[in-house]
Amino acid sequence: MIKIQGLPQAYSKVHLPSKVTMAVTQKPDGNYNLITLEWFMRTSIDPPMFAISVGHTRYSHDCLMDVRYFNLVFPGKDQKDLLSLAGSQSGRDIDKFTAGKVEHFPGKLRKLPILKNASACFECEIVTQVKSGDHTIFVGEVKYSWLNDDVDFFFYHKK
Ligand SMILES: Cc1cc2nc3c(=O)[nH]c(=O)nc-3n(C[C@H](O)[C@H](O)[C@H](O)COP(=O)(O)O)c2cc1C
Repeated sequence: MIKIQGLPQAYSKVHLPSKVTMAVTQKPDGNYNLITLEWFMRTSIDPPMFAISVGHTRYSHDCLMDVRYFNLVFPGKDQKDLLSLAGSQSGRDIDKFTAGKVEHFPGKLRKLPILKNASACFECEIVTQVKSGDHTIFVGEVKYSWLNDDVDFFFYHKK
């Protein structure tokens, strides 16, 4: 029988399996940062848009407030270690591209990196944002889309 329960208990039962993404942002020094994101969604067909929800304390939040572009990366199934790195370390402390030995090349829009081993990548320009509690939802219009047919995408499962 369904009954009232705390959010952590109720949510932990239903939120996996899930797709997990990463967002590439640009740092003020011109280098790039990566953040792991479970909270993302497609929000418009025409023009195509994705929204990402980024915590106010994340370094990526500072980057997105400064440079209004991000690349939304759908990781390949062999990029689990990179997802862990991008989701546990801050770009304030380390260069995640170097630490993760990320192979990449410049995108078409703002030259933000496209990850060679990703399954898909979407180059986005931020068109609007909404504060949502302790996160900000950044809505990006997709300018260029990349697909890697040789790579299966990563699915985040229960252990
Ligand atoms: C599986 C997973 C999903 C995550 N999803 C989000 C998310 O949707 N939004 C967010 O702000 N942080 C999320 N995080 C936490 C950030 O990835 C983490 O705090 C990261 O170290 C922030 O990096 P930065 O300080 O370089 O921006 C997630 C972490 C993991 C491991």
